[in-house]
Amino acid sequence: MEKIKVEFLNKMIVNVTEVMPKPVVGYFSKRYIAGELLQDGVNVVKNFNSRGIFATMDVLGESIKNKEEAVDAQNNALQVYEAINKNKLLSNVSVKPTQLGLSIDDDFAYEVVGELVKKAKEINNFLRIDMEDSPYTDKTFNLYKRLRKDYDNVGVVVQAKLRRTYDDVAALKDYNTNFRLCKGIYLEPEPIAYQSKQEVRDNYLKILELMLKNNHYVGIATHDDYLVENAYKMIKDMNVPKDKFEFQMLLGVKENLREKINNDGYKIRIYVPFGKDWYPYSIRRLKENPNMAGDIVKNFFRMGK
Ligand code: FDA
Repeated sequence: MEKIKVEFLNKMIVNVTEVMPKPVVGYFSKRYIAGELLQDGVNVVKNFNSRGIFATMDVLGESIKNKEEAVDAQNNALQVYEAINKNKLLSNVSVKPTQLGLSIDDDFAYEVVGELVKKAKEINNFLRIDMEDSPYTDKTFNLYKRLRKDYDNVGVVVQAKLRRTYDDVAALKDYNTNFRLCKGIYLEPEPIAYQSKQEVRDNYLKILELMLKNNHYVGIATHDDYLVENAYKMIKDMNVPKDKFEFQMLLGVKENLREKINNDGYKIRIYVPFGKDWYPYSIRRLKENPNMAGDIVKNFFRMGK
């Protein structure tokens, strides 16, 4: 009975998240976001680096309406590379392709993202192209493939939730790809996406095995203990060298698991988002974790005491 009450409360809270006052959301999402400024991101990354933990930095932004906004986003990312270089950070950069023009024009996005990969190459760094919702899956793969022809320092994300992903990875067999494998954060319909937790997990492990067999580099991005345990086992059984994979997690999520992976001697990279557009990102994170939303209300009542 108590459990049902808690679940109901959590659901209710998630539904009101969007109408919560911005400062309240800000207060409780602090753990997921480094801050508003590039320097906030740099500070968080330095801290991780001092403990042997790597990072990927992301300038938060929402959908863009015109090419000027895409160029602004490109400039922000260029500044991140400058900061990485200047501060000798163990970090690369992750970008959302639609923020760099993929929702406007494929060739334009290729130019804009291409400049970033070029900049990364100059400073011996890397660009990760995040994967967004399914209308952009093909476009994102095409963008990646075009860039990969000229550059070896660009990688892409795939989502285990999508039924197509195993075949997509198989089709990239000869690309010697640096993948990030995640479950996928977007709600996608049943015909194209697995809906149950276990189906997504099973597909995740099937894809991971294919990636390792085909000698790709894999960023194993998950906070799911089940997947981490099974990845450990697979890596051991397949005798995968340590320079062929890393674990990846989001800032502020499952910190105990992060420390465990680091202490177990595996490479781990944390996704460090920052920027003035922190609000929509926070709403997504809070909606994703209803238990967290429960904590919000508890803390809300404690605020100011
Ligand atoms: P699952 O959702 O089952 O979470 C396992 C446990 O972790 C939960 O029970 C909970 O305890 C905890 N947890 C998970 N998320 C939490 C949160 N936000 N707050 C608090 N606790 C949380 N997706 C995408 O579509 N495109 C992309 O490019 C990326 N990029 C990306 C990079 C990195 C480094 C990570 C770790 C993840 C992504 N994702 C992503 C998101 C990914 O697809 C997925 O939505 C989340 O990682 C949650 O899935 P898990 O595998 O962690 O399992």
